[in-house]
Amino acid sequence: MTEPSLPAVRLKFIDDEDIEFWEALLSQPEARQHQPLKARRLLQLRQELGRYTETDLSSLVHREYKWVVIDESTDSPVGVVSFDKLDPEHRIGRIGYTISKQFWGRGYGSSAVAELTRMIFTLSDTERIEAECSVHNPASQRVLEKNGYHLEGTKRGYLEIGGERVDHYSFGILKDD
Ligand SMILES: CC(C)(COP(=O)(O)OP(=O)(O)OC[C@H]1O[C@@H](n2cnc3c(N)ncnc32)[C@H](O)[C@@H]1OP(=O)(O)O)[C@@H](O)C(=O)NCCC(=O)NCCS
Repeated sequence: MTEPSLPAVRLKFIDDEDIEFWEALLSQPEARQHQPLKARRLLQLRQELGRYTETDLSSLVHREYKWVVIDESTDSPVGVVSFDKLDPEHRIGRIGYTISKQFWGRGYGSSAVAELTRMIFTLSDTERIEAECSVHNPASQRVLEKNGYHLEGTKRGYLEIGGERVDHYSFGILKDD
């Protein structure tokens, strides 16, 4: 359940009909400013889609999932979120999220992470979800804090973004939190 003041969203497994939205999202410099994302052409994305055909979060072999965030009021896409089973044996996963720039500041990031976290804990055996965000990305930090993720530390020089190694905050949430 999201806060009443937040927009209602649903997560739809990404498929061929979302390719153009996905390409446009990745082409936004703002979407890539704090993440090691690369803009990709339609053909490349179409090939990548093959990694995201599994929709059973309880699958014992599949590790990568991706959804388009759909605004329930307009039935239109506003972003993309992902879940990777980092360590299935220890039931640890990691999330990622990107909202299209024109929708920032309206609660979509918070709603999407709320729904993603709920689904992961409900539909898979994951016990711990991790998320890292650049120390220069306060909006992302806030999205995690608002959803009950705990700040657990700083990973120095964690990811290379724009040619520089960037420190990241490490967040985590447990199913029992
Ligand atoms: C991070 C991101 C998902 C946030 O999405 P969003 O839809 O704008 O998020 P929300 O509208 O739910 O706002 C989240 C919170 O961040 C706060 N916020 C936004 N910009 C901020 C800033 N510069 N400093 C501090 N807080 C900020 C908002 O006020 C809000 O908190 P509040 O509800 O307490 O007021 C979005 O900016 C994005 O997709 N960025 C590019 C991709 C990215 O960085 N993804 C995260 C990788 S770790």
